[in-house]
Amino acid sequence: MHDVKWTRDLSIGVVGIDRQHKELISTVNRLRHMLNENELSGRDMVIKTVPFLCKYIEEHFKLEESLFTTTDYPHKTDHIEQHRAFLNETMEIVGMNRYDKACCEELLAFLLNWLVQHVSTMDRLCKPYFVKAHRRLSPLKRLAQWLGFLFIAGE
Ligand SMILES: [Fe+2]
Repeated sequence: MHDVKWTRDLSIGVVGIDRQHKELISTVNRLRHMLNENELSGRDMVIKTVPFLCKYIEEHFKLEESLFTTTDYPHKTDHIEQHRAFLNETMEIVGMNRYDKACCEELLAFLLNWLVQHVSTMDRLCKPYFVKAHRRLSPLKRLAQWLGFLFIAGE
């Protein structure tokens, strides 16, 4: 499996969230390299790294979900359900305690595929609502949001 790169096609119009998506994708790419180069054992990856990564992803989901309410995004329930299902599925795989290379590679491929698939479909559905909400802000709030790396119009 080749590295996956974040491209503008994956942008959802919110700088802070785009930046986290880039980070998540590059982190999983990096973990795959570390595993292949034996810089990280399968055991450490399953017991420590992936649960830690899931905590970060959980925080990331909370940020996304906080914007659903403020932007009248209509697919909120389904979207939140996808987030929960992903975390549950990942922790179920982690709970199997399978550390061999093939299983670890499978776990990382699952994370990477899910992230790219989710960002390019479900998260992209948010974009028009996020961009519209940004346009409704006063110039001062737009500046404040931009400085806080939150909203910025995508186009
Ligand atoms: Fe999402």
